[in-house]
Amino acid sequence: MKGVILAAGTGSRLAPVTNIISKHLLPVGPYPMIYWSIIKLRDAGIKDILIIVNKKHLGSFIELLGEGEELNVNLKYKLQQYEGKGIADALMAAKTFIRNEKFVVLLGDNIFEDSLTPFIQSFQGQEKGAKVLLKKVKDPSQYGVPVLDKNSKRILSIIEKPDNPPSPYCVTGVYFYDQEVFNLIKDISPSNRNELEITDVNNLYIQKNRLQYDLLDGWWIDAGTHASLYQANQEIYKNIKMENAQ
Ligand code: DAU
Repeated sequence: MKGVILAAGTGSRLAPVTNIISKHLLPVGPYPMIYWSIIKLRDAGIKDILIIVNKKHLGSFIELLGEGEELNVNLKYKLQQYEGKGIADALMAAKTFIRNEKFVVLLGDNIFEDSLTPFIQSFQGQEKGAKVLLKKVKDPSQYGVPVLDKNSKRILSIIEKPDNPPSPYCVTGVYFYDQEVFNLIKDISPSNRNELEITDVNNLYIQKNRLQYDLLDGWWIDAGTHASLYQANQEIYKNIKMENAQ
């Protein structure tokens, strides 16, 4: 299986530093944020990885990561054509890299504890469709939130940043797709915030009865704000041996 890391976007909630540097290159513990996504994929056996970036930051990513030799992965890069046009728009740039396979997508600002291995294995056994990972969070209204059926067996729909969250869960930025995703992205339109939303794509999978889910066990953080970036640093330093961090 291949992996795709989305590391474009504007990072506006981490301004002003993100006016000059991609948020995915800011430190989380001893490493730039992007390392954690690469390491998660690598440790689950995924070494062919595409990173989607904005044109203005491409040089910095290449300078830092090259073709992945230091981290023992094979890295390729693609540009998101329209900066900040949404997660689904960024994902579209992965079409030629993926061709006809199932694959994993990580949002580059999601830092989490769980290994990807069991989820990849279960997705490999899934004949068609997509899978998302949910996590119980304190304030679901900042995220995509699932509406679950009575037995919590199925996701009935996902609402992006709802004022009144229909469940205590958020849809994390760890997604598993088949190649159908690229056709579905073509079927969605920009949202109120003028982005192509990954939530709209996932809702199309739900309509086809092809979206499965699992729950993340360990801690999970969307490090896209100053407060959550600080929290991600705390979690990482709590969990790594300090001698590795020097
Ligand atoms: O973190 C989980 C949440 O991520 C989900 O619960 C939401 O459903 C999903 O929409 C997303 O919400 P955010 O508002 O937090 O997304 P954000 O704009 O922060 O972008 C997340 C990552 O996606 C970020 O690391 C960069 C990448 N991205 C984002 C946009 C908008 C791109 O590569 N291109 C883009 O145009």
